[in-house]
Amino acid sequence: MRQKTILGIDIGGTGMKGAIVDLSTGQLVTERFRIPTPQPATPRKVTQVLREVVQHFQWKGAVGIGFPAIIEKGYSLTASNIDKGFINYPVEKEFSKAINLPVKVVNDADAAGLAEIRFGDKSLRKGKVLMLTIGTGIGSAYFLDGKLIPNTEFGHIHYKDKLAEHVFSNAARKKAEKSKEDWAKSFNDYLQYIERILYPDCIILGGGISKHFESYGHHFNINSKIIPASLRNHAGIIGAALSSESLMVEVA
Ligand code: BGC
Repeated sequence: MRQKTILGIDIGGTGMKGAIVDLSTGQLVTERFRIPTPQPATPRKVTQVLREVVQHFQWKGAVGIGFPAIIEKGYSLTASNIDKGFINYPVEKEFSKAINLPVKVVNDADAAGLAEIRFGDKSLRKGKVLMLTIGTGIGSAYFLDGKLIPNTEFGHIHYKDKLAEHVFSNAARKKAEKSKEDWAKSFNDYLQYIERILYPDCIILGGGISKHFESYGHHFNINSKIIPASLRNHAGIIGAALSSESLMVEVA
């Protein structure tokens, strides 16, 4: 059987990470390659770094990209942690043109969630499951019986007159020089609020902070089950690759 591999790239507010992913197993078949996201993250600069990532892998096939914005019909519509030049920008077309390869762009948290649903515990395919990615911002992916409701933005709900992601993201935690334990104690407020409005069966925590779940998870006091992402920080890359599966036909 021919191995189905795709280059997955996770573009975040701080880093742009790529790896070639085996879609049948969800495993990375190369080392992860990371370049810091250029600042300001303008379309021109981000596209330049994207080219470097693709060149690094000498890749000639479909590329799946997770991007930190609402993505509709190939356009990025918002820009919270990237340059405002990405608002209403034909991101899919422009990235594809720049690297001369078929490209699929999806929201980064939706990508990470897709990977967890496909390759994580099978029980996640039933009921209401919310993935939250904690990084430069807070991303969300919401699933009902394994089906994604795309472009939810639960990191953007308001908490005490601020955007939740400005208070609870990993970037905000580092800026406030908070330990992970202290972060978890206050993040519990946010989780309780989310629980009151969505009442999910399960919350999956992703992003860099998910690696240390064992050291702070006991501070969460909610009824929903809460677990760390089983693919840890690779979920974004794997999910980005997964979401471009439909392009395989074009390059076969
Ligand atoms: C963006 C989301 C994104 C999240 C994580 C937020 O600021 O609005 O679209 O998923 O950051 O990168």
